[in-house]
Amino acid sequence: MIAVGSDHGGFALKKAICAHLEKRGLAYKDFGTWSEESCDYPDFGKAVAKAVAAGECGQGILICGTGIGISIAANKVPGIRAALCGDCFSAEATRLHNDANILALGARVTGEGLALKIVDTFLDTPFSNDERHIRRIRKIED
Ligand code: RB5
Repeated sequence: MIAVGSDHGGFALKKAICAHLEKRGLAYKDFGTWSEESCDYPDFGKAVAKAVAAGECGQGILICGTGIGISIAANKVPGIRAALCGDCFSAEATRLHNDANILALGARVTGEGLALKIVDTFLDTPFSNDERHIRRIRKIED
């Protein structure tokens, strides 16, 4: 189950991402927001992060205008490694190296076509399981 959330700035892209996940047959849970009415990105960043940290959802996707505020908020939740990505190389590397469990996107920065490719890259790339990467991730949590 993929946890999905956005603020108003990411609402339109969240809708496109949810439609894309449906097309791929991937189950998701939408934690809001549900309109373009102004709202606070930490509310949605933290709701998705808590669902992933608790194991209720395996991975998360978060969107705000820049992707910055919502990823900062998500990364405050212990166990969360939220990665803001604007390209497919970063999305692949953050799965391979950081075992990132949340992808953050900036809807005012990254167009829909690229965003969907970033989503696919993130979801389809497994963690490398390399010893050095496991060691480094452990050091983040210390
Ligand atoms: C909302 O205007 C905007 O500040 C928010 O979407 C995000 O970009 C914050 O980091």
